[in-house]
Amino acid sequence: MAAKHRSSLRQMDVHPALAPLMFLTGTWVGSGRGDYPTIQAFAYDEEISIVPLGAKPMLRYSQSTWRAGTKEPLHTEFGYFRPAGTDAAELVIAQPTGITEIHTGGIDGRGVVFRSVSVERAPTAREVATVERRIAVDGDRLTYELLMGAVGQPHQLHLEATLHRS
Ligand code: HEM
Repeated sequence: MAAKHRSSLRQMDVHPALAPLMFLTGTWVGSGRGDYPTIQAFAYDEEISIVPLGAKPMLRYSQSTWRAGTKEPLHTEFGYFRPAGTDAAELVIAQPTGITEIHTGGIDGRGVVFRSVSVERAPTAREVATVERRIAVDGDRLTYELLMGAVGQPHQLHLEATLHRS
């Protein structure tokens, strides 16, 4: 009886509204490269964790990066994926660089494209006007591209990465 109770609790733990986003969940490890007209191209290692937020209809997202092959920390960010029906979602992200992003996105199978509806910055943060995050999962492989319009430059690629479910 106790085991049955535990198992039904586990099923209830994931909110049903999360179903269209569950393909994103897991711990993902991999690497990427970044570039922008104003900076030197760079390579990075990355770890991403995306997990249901208890029984609530949100996924908690955390990300850390390091300069490729080193322990030197680069960018890190935290946020939440929020389902918005069966084929749409919202994404909220905070960065230690003083930037916050709010996105709306469309889900297509195991892919989702988020476009910022709001990017806010602390008074001393660098200027970021637009952000777009394209994420796709194929089996145990997650790929993404991040585009941004920042520091006076038109919207274009900043990052692309490939990670594997660990
Ligand atoms: C995997 C995540 C990321 C990594 C590894 C990364 C790494 C870097 C590196 C190494 C630089 C150049 C050196 C520096 O200025 O620190 C840079 C510049 C920059 N990044 Fe990123 N970044 C990431 C995500 C983001 C995101 C999410 C945004 C904005 C929403 C962003 C905005 C910028 C801006 C505005 C610059 C400065 C361009 C300039 O001042 O000319 N980055 N990034």
